[in-house]
Amino acid sequence: MGSQIGVTGLAVMGQNLARNIARHGFPVAVHNRTESRTKQLIEHHGDEGDFTPAYSLEEFVAALDRPRRIIIMVKAGAPVDAVIKDLIPLLDAGDIIIDGGNSHYADTRRRVAELAEHDLHFVGAGISGGEEGALLGPSIMPGGPREAYAPVEPILTAIAAQVDGTPCCAYIGPDGAGHYVKMAHNGIEYADMQLIAEAYDLLTHAAGLSAPEIARVFEQWNEGDLESFLIEITAKVLAHTDETTGGPLVDVILDEAEQKGTGRWTSQSALELGVPVTAITEAVFARALSARKDERTKASKILPGPSAGQVEGDFVDAVRDALYASKVVAYAQGFEQIRAASDEYGWDVEPGTLATIWRGGCIIRARFLDRIKDAYDRDPELSNLLLDDYFRDAVAGAQDAWRKVVRTAVELGVPTPAFSSALAYYDGFRRERGPASLIQGLRDFFGAHTYRRTDREGVFHTLWSEDGREVSAD
Ligand code: 6PG
Repeated sequence: MGSQIGVTGLAVMGQNLARNIARHGFPVAVHNRTESRTKQLIEHHGDEGDFTPAYSLEEFVAALDRPRRIIIMVKAGAPVDAVIKDLIPLLDAGDIIIDGGNSHYADTRRRVAELAEHDLHFVGAGISGGEEGALLGPSIMPGGPREAYAPVEPILTAIAAQVDGTPCCAYIGPDGAGHYVKMAHNGIEYADMQLIAEAYDLLTHAAGLSAPEIARVFEQWNEGDLESFLIEITAKVLAHTDETTGGPLVDVILDEAEQKGTGRWTSQSALELGVPVTAITEAVFARALSARKDERTKASKILPGPSAGQVEGDFVDAVRDALYASKVVAYAQGFEQIRAASDEYGWDVEPGTLATIWRGGCIIRARFLDRIKDAYDRDPELSNLLLDDYFRDAVAGAQDAWRKVVRTAVELGVPTPAFSSALAYYDGFRRERGPASLIQGLRDFFGAHTYRRTDREGVFHTLWSEDGREVSAD
């Protein structure tokens, strides 16, 4: 008997995934372009399960039971295509390649189609949870042909995180659906982290708290509705003492946020789909602004801000409420984007399934996801999370504090792009009539772009530079 599955690409994520598979009793073949990594894996962890080391792709493929199941864990982009190209001549009809990296969904769509021409299956599986998740139980978002998922399902569901006995792995939809939702997961992760960073900034610069004091605040928040992995590790990062200075480590970490691209891809797709995903996009832009350290340093000496102000009342609790309400908006937007993409590409993604598999294993895992799952259980067709009774009431209850926090931030000159834009979205969304009437009027004035009316069917144009008469433009 050969190995039931193979993993090629043994950097930390690949290595940990292979170990996770082996630890669950599945014989696994392992391969890496440079032999030393394969040897190291066997040397250090070979006793954790049934590994078959392979030192060439031919050997690797030969070690696998049919249909062959091969997980590739290499850097997104050209390296994935290179591995696929090398594998194709070695495989037989019905074999399955699973890409577990952070690939762009458009690449996955292309690869599914290309491999189908060779009678091969391609599964684009988003895997979240970082190194630890890969080893101990990640959240897995597989997409591709359904018939290709069936033979890998028992392995993927076994190695995934489990919450209340349910695996954090479920079939998402055809072609690029799995990688799309992983991308959106990362976009939401960006928004979550930006909101946390804004809360930290306010507690530092408006409430005057130190990093260890804020760590305790986050610890407390982690006992309530905000309970989540990111809030938990925020407390840990803020509480950490630097070995060199003896002060908080966070105070000496360079304030330039890097990004590998999934947040930006989420915003790009949202713009293409025309979905107002403001929180994620503000988070991407905030990282871009943070990266301009030299310019900011120059500007800090030139551009004046407001004179110091005072925070009123129980500001710490208000920040917590603002964070929660903004988070609801960020998730409402992210889920709306996934629905729009699913409609555009015909994927039939079930939002309730996503909420279920994001409850454990992944970076955005949170108590909150249970509430989202409940909302979609109540109404699987829910168009926007804000319209669910639970979230409507939660945001309504938080909104006075939310407005106070944004007002205070503006007055003190503390930038809160995600808090503020989430509030603007909320206020825009709950308006039956907005000011876009004027935009339409202006477009018609300078470009005869026409407008529709609230009181009559049809398309109209006003002869602005003639006698001001309105004419039908149907
Ligand atoms: C995950 C993470 C992971 C990603 C990090 C870093 O779900 O396990 O999303 O896939 O590598 O989030 O992303 P950035 O470098 O873009 O911040």
